[in-house]
Amino acid sequence: MIKLDATTSTNDYAQALLTKGENIAEGTVVIADKQLMGRGQRGNSWVSEPGLNLTFSIILYPKFLRPSDQFELSKAISLGIVSYLRTALPVNLSLISVKWPNDIYVGDKKVCGILIENLVSGAKLTHSVVGIGLNVNQTQFSDSLPNPTSMHLVANSAFDLEQVRKELFGYLDARYLTLRNGAWHKMNKEYAASLYRFGEMREYQVKGVLMRAQICGIDDIGRLILESESGEKVHCDFKEVVFS
Ligand code: BTN
Repeated sequence: MIKLDATTSTNDYAQALLTKGENIAEGTVVIADKQLMGRGQRGNSWVSEPGLNLTFSIILYPKFLRPSDQFELSKAISLGIVSYLRTALPVNLSLISVKWPNDIYVGDKKVCGILIENLVSGAKLTHSVVGIGLNVNQTQFSDSLPNPTSMHLVANSAFDLEQVRKELFGYLDARYLTLRNGAWHKMNKEYAASLYRFGEMREYQVKGVLMRAQICGIDDIGRLILESESGEKVHCDFKEVVFS
């Protein structure tokens, strides 16, 4: 574990280590109290109050995955976080879910974001930097964030950050080993059942069109499968669907 007081972004720091070509052990974690330029999905920034939350990146070498299977890593990481939070938070298990593709929710609020950056060489995924921002003890958020929450806000009490880190790492490790042992398919059902709004008829904007549909799973390449009221199934990538 490389523990930093401050850095621009732990994902960038991890990428720089890989670029230098040093021998970095798989599972090395870069963790920082403060990120000056934390990055989120879709070019957004990730803002986290220093010292209150977990912001870290894990270096992995998932050479056993083909580039077309890269969403399997996201599934394993998401399930690791969900299963940890289900033990740590005093709420109904079903409230802790994966908002496809990369957010972890408690109820209708986001508690954790994931940013996975992969390097592909030939037909293999050679390097992955798995960035995780988990809101632990922060209780006030900028109004510009749509729906943030934290473990503290959910449980109504503060957490020992070091203990959260250790426990969470245990869950992530276990899921990564399952993936590495080739047992991904074991996780598919659990992943689908853990999806935010799984099986609920709701409104979505799909490829620009408003429709009522229910989430019924993920296809082989990680696209969300929505089933409309008339039974039509639509496979969407993340730019093609808006949750309303
Ligand atoms: C998102 O929800 O948009 C993804 C957020 C990912 C944030 C984490 S914090 C640690 C790592 N370093 C970064 O710059 N981003 C990720």
